[in-house]
Amino acid sequence: MTVHATARPARSTRSIGWVPYPLIALGVIPAIAGSLRLVELAGGPHLLPANPRITASPVPVIVHIVGAVLYVILGAFQFSTGLRRRRPNWHRAAGRVLVVLGLAVAFSALWMTAFYPRVPGGALAHVFRLGFGTGMAASIILGFVAIRNRDVARHRAWMARAYALALGAGTQVLTQGIGNAVFGPSELTTALMLGAGWGINLAVVEYTIRFRFPASVPARTPVSATAA
Ligand code: HEM
Repeated sequence: MTVHATARPARSTRSIGWVPYPLIALGVIPAIAGSLRLVELAGGPHLLPANPRITASPVPVIVHIVGAVLYVILGAFQFSTGLRRRRPNWHRAAGRVLVVLGLAVAFSALWMTAFYPRVPGGALAHVFRLGFGTGMAASIILGFVAIRNRDVARHRAWMARAYALALGAGTQVLTQGIGNAVFGPSELTTALMLGAGWGINLAVVEYTIRFRFPASVPARTPVSATAA
């Protein structure tokens, strides 16, 4: 604890810091698209390409979008060191809400993957969605179990992985755009660029966990909850 205070005097624990804002920025485009879809489902104007799966079965996508937008925005502030140290009760209360939201996002995604017919991207995208959706749910559960066991380092690492998988939706806006421009739109391009979005985010989060916050890696020794 004191090591942090003396080794990094420049990092203020009073302010929220910059970290949450780029995270929210990455989620902005899918969040806007989702909000437009909710407006449409509420009877408003049709501003997005028609999606017959959503029209036929809107409940899972409503759960998915509402959960995802709140998870991305609220979740970003869990990574603020200043907020966590200054308002540990806020971090705890928001964390409980985020576990519910995150699981709602992941399970609604898995439901849509399993039951919506002909979701774009074909079989490969189907496998990616099943794998990364399950990975997000599993990461949240492992992160929750870790903090119940007072293992802060392991908690931090699993919750960061879950958030990175959710933010895959933002990175995929970029990878899909580049993929369509370079290879032309096709089922294979869609699938590969979806996978690339999740892959990039996982690579960044593993790098961050291992090299920026190496204490998160071995996590063999439980760290006292007050050190969070
Ligand atoms: C592991 C994470 C996620 C997986 C596996 C996933 C998967 C899916 C699936 C299967 C659909 C249905 C697609 C269709 O029928 O065309 C969907 C829709 C959608 N997802 Fe996700 N999703 C994830 C996270 C997110 C997040 C974090 C956001 C927003 C920040 C998001 C935004 C949306 C939106 C806006 C739609 C509706 C698309 C439309 O209106 O056509 N998703 N997602």
